[in-house]
Amino acid sequence: MRIAICPGSFDPVTLGHMDIIRRASNLFDKVIVVVMTNSSKKPLFDQVERMELLNRAVAQEGLRNIVVDCYDGLLADYVKLRGATVVVKGLRAMSDFEYEFQMALTNRKLNPQAETVFLTTTAEHMYLSSSLVKQVAHYGGDVSDLVPSCILPDIISKYRKDNEDEHEH
Ligand code: PNS
Repeated sequence: MRIAICPGSFDPVTLGHMDIIRRASNLFDKVIVVVMTNSSKKPLFDQVERMELLNRAVAQEGLRNIVVDCYDGLLADYVKLRGATVVVKGLRAMSDFEYEFQMALTNRKLNPQAETVFLTTTAEHMYLSSSLVKQVAHYGGDVSDLVPSCILPDIISKYRKDNEDEHEH
């Protein structure tokens, strides 16, 4: 069985992520979407919330060969742990390339058995990122075209709650 690992921070999952996950699910027998820690980012949603949002989005799409998991550690170790040999990542613009290339080479150094496969994003998702979604939502903008519809209420209520907390202090 061909197992692929699709890692990311997914804070929160966007339509760009879902596009990559859907296409990976067509290419592999099983895809494990794993919520990981990116040490250079401070997450808005905690790990459990991010998994919950992903599970809901995957169920909404009706994707059957996807498992959502989380892991605090090195991606290279997780790939070994799951008996996988492929890591799938989405590649947007040139700006992603250098960082993704560096990560792919590091991961190969740590686990030479694992191959990183890049799926190029579709043109409509070229600009999309979780950070952009958070910025727009923070200022009350409409993110309904950017994230799965089933997670939209969570994003709105998260910022509403943050604003309330801010005003209380
Ligand atoms: O969605 P992101 O933030 O671009 O995903 C980056 C992520 C979480 C996949 C990356 O930071 C990662 O693999 N973190 C786990 C720790 C690790 O293995 N770091 C070394 C990779 S070079």
